[in-house]
Amino acid sequence: MTLTRRQAMKMGVAGLAGLALSPTNSYGRYFRILEENKKRGMAPEDAVWLVFNVNPLGSSNKAYDVMRRSVRLSHHYGEYHGYELLRNLHEMHGLKFSDMENPDSYFARYAAFNQNPIMLGFGGTEFLQAIARHANDQGGNYVEIQPTYGEITGTINRLPKVRIERRSVHETVGHEASPEEILAKTDRNTRLIHIINPSNPTGRVYSPEALVYLMDNKPPETLLLIDEAYIHYAPSNRVKSMIGEAVSRENVVVLRTMSKAYGLAAKRVGYIVGNPETFKSMALRPMGGYYQNPVAMLMAKEALGDKKFVEKSVNHANSVKARYLDYFAELGLRPRPSATSFMWVHTDRDLSGVVRELEKENIFIKSGHQYGEPNHIRVSIGTNRQVNRFFNIFRDKMKG
Ligand SMILES: Cc1ncc(COP(=O)(O)O)c(C=O)c1O
Repeated sequence: MTLTRRQAMKMGVAGLAGLALSPTNSYGRYFRILEENKKRGMAPEDAVWLVFNVNPLGSSNKAYDVMRRSVRLSHHYGEYHGYELLRNLHEMHGLKFSDMENPDSYFARYAAFNQNPIMLGFGGTEFLQAIARHANDQGGNYVEIQPTYGEITGTINRLPKVRIERRSVHETVGHEASPEEILAKTDRNTRLIHIINPSNPTGRVYSPEALVYLMDNKPPETLLLIDEAYIHYAPSNRVKSMIGEAVSRENVVVLRTMSKAYGLAAKRVGYIVGNPETFKSMALRPMGGYYQNPVAMLMAKEALGDKKFVEKSVNHANSVKARYLDYFAELGLRPRPSATSFMWVHTDRDLSGVVRELEKENIFIKSGHQYGEPNHIRVSIGTNRQVNRFFNIFRDKMKG
């Protein structure tokens, strides 16, 4: 029996649907496993996904209420609601939002989408892909910290012609990449330095001093991309958003997504923050600027205002992370304290066999293989019920 796209959507892993078509990526594998498990009586709806770092608590109830009320806007494009969200985002980040001078001009409002310090996108991924393509077009090299979230390199490697060389700074257990090491890899042909703060998959943080040092010392034309997808989960005394720096400098941009702490992954809302001059030089024309989904825009606006929900999500993540630290240590593994909504665990040996055994029970975590680190696993935060189930079965499988 094959799983239809509709069934996949119903499972609440809508993000899988568009990606499952390639047999080589892990999403294709997940679909196959779900089908096999279904034949053995396990419902896809009950699968425990500790792989995508989405918010296990869902989203704000206020956002769900707005969704119910606004669903009949679905036949519209959503520029007006996108415009309002954009204005609210500027306000939230303390940034000046300019309406365009001549509101009677047909394109005046559209200009607001690409001439302000915040640009809306179809999730953060749209920007990561656009930035990767732009860097590749220019040739030269780019710098990544390994292990890393693979969207930049994945995008480049899928292009018909790879013109740009990847330079990596490797992190290992007990060693974090320093700004000096990163700068040592750069030269005037470096198009991009990609930093994720706090990092995916390791959960480490970069201090504000380290990031400012990078900005001050990188080649001026090199774009520094600071991905703050998980910043809500990071302790505010250790991680500071670089949004202010990005706006006041050129060639520094910050990426944000509403897919994680705000729980809106399926709604595809993300944005970048920077200097409009930087955006111009990047030749960006994101879908988020022109073809927004009005329901998603309204939900995002509501979710932004629900600070209590974000706080609850972060508290939940902290309590699960505390349990993960104890649990993995008891099993003799080495979990790394994390400032994100997942945990990177050094396992001393390749546990991909155990990961596959878990998958047969409809429980999904990430093997470090995907990051070139076979002796690691990455486990996202789940609900308490999901975590309990994972704990029991993982312990059994570890015993062999
Ligand atoms: C580090 C990082 N950046 C960006 C994203 C993109 O998320 P989205 O496209 O859902 O906004 C993700 C998603 O997992 C991520 O982990």
